[in-house]
Amino acid sequence: MDIVKRFKSKKNNVYLVKNNGDFKVLKKYSDINNFEKEKSFYEILKLEKIRIPNVIKENIEEKSMLFEYIGYKTAVEMIENFELESNEDDCVKLILKIYGWLKDFHAVPYIKENKLCFFDLSLRHFIIYRDEIYGIDFESITEGSLSLDVGRMLAMYLYYDKIKSDFKLKVLEKVKEQILAEELIRPEDLYYSLRREEEMIKIRRDIH
Ligand SMILES: Nc1ncnc2c1ncn2[C@@H]1O[C@H](COP(=O)(O)OP(=O)(O)OP(=O)(O)O)[C@@H](O)[C@H]1O
Ligand SMILES: [Mg+2]
Repeated sequence: MDIVKRFKSKKNNVYLVKNNGDFKVLKKYSDINNFEKEKSFYEILKLEKIRIPNVIKENIEEKSMLFEYIGYKTAVEMIENFELESNEDDCVKLILKIYGWLKDFHAVPYIKENKLCFFDLSLRHFIIYRDEIYGIDFESITEGSLSLDVGRMLAMYLYYDKIKSDFKLKVLEKVKEQILAEELIRPEDLYYSLRREEEMIKIRRDIH
C-alpha cells in the first residue's frame, strides 16, 4: 500500500493510498475510543439508505480503517467555486443537498431513538460524487436535534472565505426559505442554533 498524499485533518492522520491499483483512504486514529466510536457508527449506518463510504478493512492494533475513496471534491471546494462564479442557484442546491443528507441521517432509527446529531458540521465532511452527497466523520456524534445540525451547518457555511459576503447572505436567505417551507424545523429553533454556532465560531477563531 503506497501513500499518495495526506489529507487536511486535525484529529487524526488521513491518507490517500494506492492499494491493488485502486485509490483508497486510510484513516489512522489518534485515539482508540474514537476509532471504536466511528467503527460502530459505520456498522449502524451502512444498513441504512444514507450515503457513506464503504469500509474495506479495519485494523484494531493499528487503530486504522481503510475506506472507499469517494473523490476529491468536498463541499468546501464547491461552495468556493460557486462564489467565484457568482453561481447562487447551484450553491443553494448544494446546501439543500447537504440538508437532505442531514435529514436522512436524522431518519436513521438508532439516531432518532437516541436523540443524536452529527455535530461536527465542517463542510469538508461532505464529499460530492456524481451529484450525490456522501457524509464522513462520525467521531463527534452526540446528543442533539436536526435543527441544531442544520443551524450549525449554515453557520459554518457563512464563515468560509469570504466570511458573510453578500453572496453567502443571499444564498443563506434562499436556503432558509426553502428549509422553513418544509415545516420540519421551527424558525425560532433554526435562528437559535445558527446564532449559537456563530458565537462558537467567533470564540474559536477569536473574532470579535
Ligand atoms: N472516504 C473518503 N473519500 C474521499 N476523501 C476522504 C474520505 N475520507 C476522508 N477524506 C478526506 O480526508 C479529510 C479528513 O477526513 P476526516 O474528517 O475523517 O479526518 P479527521 O481526522 O476527522 O479530520 P478533522 O479533525 O480535520 O475533522 C476529509 O475532509 C476529506 O477531504
Ligand atoms: Mg473530520
